[in-house]
Amino acid sequence: MSNERGQFSSRFGFITAATGSAVGLGNIWGFPTQTASHGGGAFVLVYLVLAFLLAYPALMAELIIGRHTRHNMVRALPQLTTRPALKMFGRATGLYGVLVASLILSFYAIVAGWLMAQVPAALVNITGQPADTNWFAQSSLIRDSLFCALFSVLTAAIVARGVKDGIERWSTRLMPALVLLMLGLVATVLTLPGAMEGLRLYVVPDFSLITNPSLLTSAMGQAFFSLSLGVGTMLIYGSYVSKTDNLPLTGAYVALIDTGIAFLAGLLIIPAMFVARHRGIEIYSDENTLIAGPDLILQTLPELFNSLGFVGAFIGLIFFLLLSIAALTSSISMLEVPVTFALEQFKISRPRATGLVASIIFGISLLILFNVEQLFGTVVTATTKYSQPLLGVMLCLFAGWVLHRDKLLGEISEGFAGAKESLFWKIWPGYIRVVCPLLIIIMFVQNIRG
Ligand code: PFF
Repeated sequence: MSNERGQFSSRFGFITAATGSAVGLGNIWGFPTQTASHGGGAFVLVYLVLAFLLAYPALMAELIIGRHTRHNMVRALPQLTTRPALKMFGRATGLYGVLVASLILSFYAIVAGWLMAQVPAALVNITGQPADTNWFAQSSLIRDSLFCALFSVLTAAIVARGVKDGIERWSTRLMPALVLLMLGLVATVLTLPGAMEGLRLYVVPDFSLITNPSLLTSAMGQAFFSLSLGVGTMLIYGSYVSKTDNLPLTGAYVALIDTGIAFLAGLLIIPAMFVARHRGIEIYSDENTLIAGPDLILQTLPELFNSLGFVGAFIGLIFFLLLSIAALTSSISMLEVPVTFALEQFKISRPRATGLVASIIFGISLLILFNVEQLFGTVVTATTKYSQPLLGVMLCLFAGWVLHRDKLLGEISEGFAGAKESLFWKIWPGYIRVVCPLLIIIMFVQNIRG
């Protein structure tokens, strides 16, 4: 029986693992498709502002609670108070986080499976076989279930090995590969005819769209999803950070890298859509809006790659490999949430806890897969659009109102000598007590009313 807590070996180890969690399908799939469906540059601008105005402060709340308590969210939140009612509320919030993390993983593994299947599909294309005989390229229940299973097994295999040998080792290997592949792809796509039109749409905002409530909540949900917030992932990663690390700075690196990679992914995909248009592929739907969602990634882009011949098949291979890697470093952080809960709660070994939890989540994935029409969209919306920001509010309130101010300052001062005089300490505590929760709630209410 081993339920000993792990720790990241260095600040670099933490940053790669936390950015590994943050950078995922949310960045490479979610951000560009949301940008496409919300008119381009306006969404990019709002997203960038919200990432630093709302998501970074909330990220800090999680990291600080995690490192301070050295527990998973279910135990951490009650530990911040002596009041029985608040303790119970903390526990309930923690359990809600574990549930949401597990549900996110259950749909994430399905999407990751779709994408992983495109890797062998691209390999078959490279060998010159006609596209319509390519079993891997076409969705079917059997293909989707198999690849979802494969992805779930890979995720569980890494998590079962623990913090340092599993999560940290694989994130440090995979993340640099991801950045390099991405830079190579952006450089290639931007040289192709049509790319500049896409670039213009991407970087020049249409200011009339900026106050649209649906754009605002989508950008907020996207920022919370992208930074893996609310569900206890960053809290648990924070609990593995050494007391000698400067948390506000480390957290800022994570937020910056995550946002930078989302921006880079948009720089790849929006211009790629216009390259596709230049080659005669339809990129506008019947309502005259840009194609977004699964069709963009699983139809429009593969059509583009196919139309570019051998080089295109190669670009496709790298692109889907990139997405699979990004998905994996994120899914391990999601699985870590229920696994640490099971580990600390039931005092079982890490491999056992991992096997058990991963099997249950795979069961839920299959349930969703067999009822895609009814369940998929509902689970995505309930978890990412509503639950994550709401849980983010709770975590801000716990860090701001429940955790004693002296303890908060003490925690921030670990690894950050001049914390008390810093701008961070002057602004952040008041900010997460009032401004951050209020902003999130106002956007919510506006969206529901709108
Ligand atoms: N941040 C991940 C992405 O952008 O794809 C998704 C994610 C990871 C959400 C971990 C929640 C989580 F706990």
